[in-house]
Order: sequence, then C-alpha cells, then structure tokens
Amino acid sequence: MIFTVAIDGPAAAGKGTLSRAVAAHFGFAHLDTGLLYRAVAAMGGDPVAAAHAVSPEDLARPGLRSLEAGQAASRVAADPAVRAALIRFQRRFARAEGGAVLDGRDIGTVVCPEAEVKLYVTATPQVRARRRWLELGGDEAQVLAEVMERDARDMGRATSPLRRATDAEVIDTSDLSIDAAVARAINLVADRLATARSA
Ligand code: CDP
Repeated sequence: MIFTVAIDGPAAAGKGTLSRAVAAHFGFAHLDTGLLYRAVAAMGGDPVAAAHAVSPEDLARPGLRSLEAGQAASRVAADPAVRAALIRFQRRFARAEGGAVLDGRDIGTVVCPEAEVKLYVTATPQVRARRRWLELGGDEAQVLAEVMERDARDMGRATSPLRRATDAEVIDTSDLSIDAAVARAINLVADRLATARSA
C-alpha cells in the first residue's frame, strides 16, 4: 500500500511529536525532513554538494537540534539548488510501499502534493517558543526571537515557502494537550486509510 501523511507547519509547532506518534500507531516509516536541512548546513562547505552527499550517518550528527543548527538550516533551505538535490530522496521515501509520514515545511505543497493526508500543525509563536525553550533552555525571549525570525525566512522565501496546502487540515496545538493533538491526527489518518482501503 502506498499512503503518505504530509505534516507541515512552523518551527516547534509539535510536528515531530505528532509525526512519530502517527507513524508508530499505523506502523508507517517516518522522515523528519528538517533533519536533512539541518545536516546539510552542519556538513559545511558547499551546501549543494552537501545536499547531494548527505547520508543517514549525517542525520545522526550531534548538535543538529540546537537553535543555531535550526537557523543555519533555514538559511541553506532558501537555496533552490539545495531543495532540488533533496527532493528525489524525499519523494521516494513518501511513496515507498508500506506507508510513510514526512514532516517539514513543503511536504503537502511541493514534495508530495498527492499525499493522502495533509496536516498543517501550528500554534501561537509564544506557545511554540515556550516549548522550544523547555526543550533547549537558554533565554526565552531569545528563543522567541529566533522562532519568529526563522518563520519569517521560511514563509518569505521564493522557493517552496512554508504555507498551508489548500487541502490540509489545520491542527492548532496552542490549547491542545499532546494526547489530544495525537488523537485528532490519528482519527484523520484512520478515516482516510479506511477510504483508501475500500477504494
Ligand atoms: O523542528 P523545527 O520545526 O524547529 O525545525 P525543522 O523541521 O527541523 O526545520 C529546520 C529548518 O529546515 C526550517 O526552519 C526550514 O528552513 C528548513 N526546512 C525546509 O525548508 N523544508 C522542510 N521540508 C523541512 C525543513
């Protein structure tokens, strides 16, 4: 069965938690596409060459989750040649047998517009910054500034900007517990899966 769940949204909206939970529930593979951009930036040198060379070991580099790595990722992610170099791998992953969940910024709009389920996960910048601050520590005001700067860059770039696909379901996690957000996502996927199986 080919079945793709595309989960997009701004920084620290809860995409990772939701994606892992959905993938585990349905037994689907999961790809955190943000990690690809974080790894490419961390590899240094020419980012386009890095995007062509990135390997699973690069995705396990230490420090990829830091604020600095996120900022560096969002800078290389604005380069259309970097994005082009990473798209084939992502598409192959999305359409592999057995079902896949991909989370990122442009999965439902560009990487996999044919995805069977599209979710747009969001929350207020303050809530997202608080979550990232609880995760990483540091100065909360600085984390908020970083999150807002990255959102502006990701939404404002010319190639594959972050935006909600017109057919994506919005899950606003500002006032939702993790369990409630996961339950909503699982219900949506289960509905579409039932439709896909009966087709
Ligand atoms: O975890 P968080 O939401 O903070 O970030 P991430 O998903 O790891 O993504 C890091 C950066 O990579 C983002 O700010 C984007 O600039 C870029 N990215 C992208 O352009 N397209 C994707 N599909 C995924 C990430």
